[in-house]
Formats: sequence, C-alpha cells, structure tokens
Amino acid sequence: MAIIGCGSATPSAILSNHHLSQVVDTSDEWIYPRTGMKNRHVSSTNETLSQLAADAAQKAIADANLDPTNIDLIILATSTPDDLFGSASKVQHLIGATQAAAFDLTVACSGFVFGLITAAQYIRTGVYKNVVVIGADLLSRWVDWTDRTTCVLFGDGAGAVVCQGTETKDNLLAFEMRNDGSQHGCLNLGYQGESKPLAEGITVQVGGYKPLTMSGKEVYRFAVAKVPEAIEKAMFRAGLAIDDLDWLLLHQANQRIMDAVAKRLKLPSEKILSRISEYGNTSAASIPLTLDTEIRAGKVKPGDKIAVSGFGAGLAWSSAIFVWG
Ligand code: COA
Repeated sequence: MAIIGCGSATPSAILSNHHLSQVVDTSDEWIYPRTGMKNRHVSSTNETLSQLAADAAQKAIADANLDPTNIDLIILATSTPDDLFGSASKVQHLIGATQAAAFDLTVACSGFVFGLITAAQYIRTGVYKNVVVIGADLLSRWVDWTDRTTCVLFGDGAGAVVCQGTETKDNLLAFEMRNDGSQHGCLNLGYQGESKPLAEGITVQVGGYKPLTMSGKEVYRFAVAKVPEAIEKAMFRAGLAIDDLDWLLLHQANQRIMDAVAKRLKLPSEKILSRISEYGNTSAASIPLTLDTEIRAGKVKPGDKIAVSGFGAGLAWSSAIFVWG
C-alpha cells in the first residue's frame, strides 16, 4: 500500500496562553517552557467533530486525486464523537463517499496510528483498495476548564490520509501496537452515572461523562520509556537504522517528550516534526494534522521515510514506519 493523500482542518478560534491566563491561574511563562505550546484551536458551539473530520477527509481525497465515490472504507479515530453510536457514518454522508463502509476506532491519542495499521490490513488482504484514515478530536468539549493542570494542554483538530493498495510497493514498512491496561487510571474521560431505581429489585445507572483527568508525571514517564522502544522495534522489523529516517513525528503531547524520545533514539532534533506551538495536544488528530501542515510547508516530500508514534490513554502506544507519497 501507499499513503497518497493528506488533509487537515482546524476550528477558526485560536486560544493563546495569554487567553488561558484569564481563565485559570496560569501564564505563558509556565506553559511554554514545560510543553512548547503557545496556541491551540478550539471549536465554537456550531462546529462539530463530524464536520471537521469530513473537511480533513475531503482535502485528503482531493490531494490523492480521487473522488469520494472511490473510497471503500473510512476509519475515524476519535474519542470525542458527536454521537456515542459513532460519527464515521455521518462523515461518510458529509463527504459523499456513498460506496464506503465506515466505523469509529477509539484508542485516544494512539488512535490514528492504530487506524493506519488497521487500514493496511484491509488493503493487504485485497479486500479494499482506497481507505481514508481520519484522526479527529474536540477535547475542548471534555476538559475541565477550571483545572489548570489539564485544560492548558489540549486543542481541537482533524487530519486525514488516503491509503491505496498498489501492486508494486508497500510503503507501511513496519509497525508496533501495545497496551497496558493496568495503567488505565492515568488518563481518563470516564462514565459517571447515578443510581436510578426502576422497578422492584432493579436499579439502573443514568449519567454522562466526567471531565478528563490525568496523572501528568506518570504519563510523561510512560511516554519517554515506551515510545523509543516501540520505534526501535518497528525500525528493526523494517530493516532500517535510525540514520535512514528523514523525520520523527510523535503524537504532539509535549515538546519535552518529543525531545527526550529523539535523544534516546540518538536522532538529531532537526528531524523532529513539531507543530505543538500552534495546535497543542489534539489527541488522535495530532499526527496527521502535523504531517499535513509540514507537507503544505514543503518540509515533508514524497519518498521521505517517517517514524510516527501515538501514545496516551489506555495506556496504549504504537509506532509505524512509512514512506510518504
Ligand atoms: N499553570 C501554572 N502552574 C501549574 C499549571 C499551570 N497550567 N499546571 C500545574 N501547575 C503547578 C502545579 O500545581 C504544581 O504546583 P505546586 O508545586 O505548587 O503543587 C507545579 O505547577 C508543578 O506541577 P507538576 O504537575 O509537577 O508539573 P510537571 O512539571 O509534571 O508538568 C505537565 C506538568 C502536564 C506539563 C507534565 O507532567 C506533562 O507534560 N505530562 C505529560 C502529559 C501528557 O502528555 N498528557 C497527554 C498524553 S496523550
């Protein structure tokens, strides 16, 4: 398979560190040195996850010189659908991909890489030819805007790629997917219900989801320990040395995590792709959104070898080595 198109979309409103200092007791002096973040985009009341994901997908399909009716499958990696029953079907309708099957996939910030690997399996078995993988999240809907330890970190966005089956090459060179559910409590957006007696001897739960909670230090330690390992495994399977890589594109959670991972891999910092200062942590969107931004900027070129890694809630982490274009 080849990855032949890329697109992205962000809401128009930009929330700066300065804005945040008016919302909670924080400052640019605290946020920027610890995270690398300056701005993030946040959706307004009329912007939906489905529309943002559809905008990114449409651009990726146009970039691949395809028509939406050529798409066989849409995988929407998101933890923040407009509808708990899934938003992929709505995206399918919005973009007019009338022939495509569509489903949501939830692995938080690892979702895009898990989705890319899933797409490859459908393509390699010959079942589908053109698969769109979207990473999209609107975490501004779910953070606690009174909690300065989390609300400063997240932003909204969407990014998408088109994967296509080809006879001649397989540009997903290798991958690794891992989970450690014993650390599930480190990062959550959990259900919270109240008991409601319904009938004699029957009580059900009725409720919603409580805002995002996170043990920042544990997540930081986990990422710096596990991400280099996952990339090294995939590199070994691909038969590549670190020097063969053109770019390292990590989930954009924290600039310090990206720098620490690159250092462990002995990769020069110029090879890190980072747009964290513009977008913050956009969860499942962060890798395709950054990839698209760097392609449009002319930095990433066809033929470049890229190592990506998603990591976060689950805890889950993953890596993939692919050739763009
Ligand atoms: N503004 C100002 N002060 C803040 C603050 C903010 N936004 N957030 C926390 N603080 C304060 C804390 O209250 C604490 O104060 P205290 O010492 O008086 O108690 C102090 O800053 C240090 O807090 P701490 O949580 O120890 O900071 P840290 O150095 O661990 O950095 C993170 C916090 C979140 C930047 C860091 O832990 C991190 O990036 N973790 C990974 C998180 C992540 O990537 N999550 C997503 C994965 S998908």
